[in-house]
Amino acid sequence: MQATPQDIKPRITRTHLALFVADPFKSGPWYEDVLGMTETARGEKWVFLSFGVKHHDIALIRAESPDGAPLVRGQINMQHYGLEIDGDVDELRRLYGMLLRKNVEVFKTTDHKVGYGLYFHDPDGHRLEFFCHTVHDDEEGKRILHDYNAPSEPIDLQPL
Ligand SMILES: [Fe+2]
Repeated sequence: MQATPQDIKPRITRTHLALFVADPFKSGPWYEDVLGMTETARGEKWVFLSFGVKHHDIALIRAESPDGAPLVRGQINMQHYGLEIDGDVDELRRLYGMLLRKNVEVFKTTDHKVGYGLYFHDPDGHRLEFFCHTVHDDEEGKRILHDYNAPSEPIDLQPL
């Protein structure tokens, strides 16, 4: 896993965290009450919350056990950690290429309407996301995320 000289380093400007929770619609009000956050968007299985500036700082996503077994408190974990990059879609594609050269499998690329996400795992299986903003105005981002229910649609993104 040797980095080649031409490989770029990610420049991360902001981050967001996505957590699995038993019930996003119960946990959302807790984050509003205890952490002073504001709900910015919701979908069928998730609630997005902001500390005030961004369209979301934390996303709460409904955890589902594959076999239908009850969820165990303390064993419901991070869904992903979003690393918001400095740069455009081509920079995201260059990071995609860098990951492939380092033998990191990219397992999902998505369009969130306010940006593109590229998902991969660390060696222990923690899910990370390189996120590239396509909407740069925070207020516009909040409006779009809310109006589209914080979407996550597959996109075809080619590595560079
Ligand atoms: Fe994300």
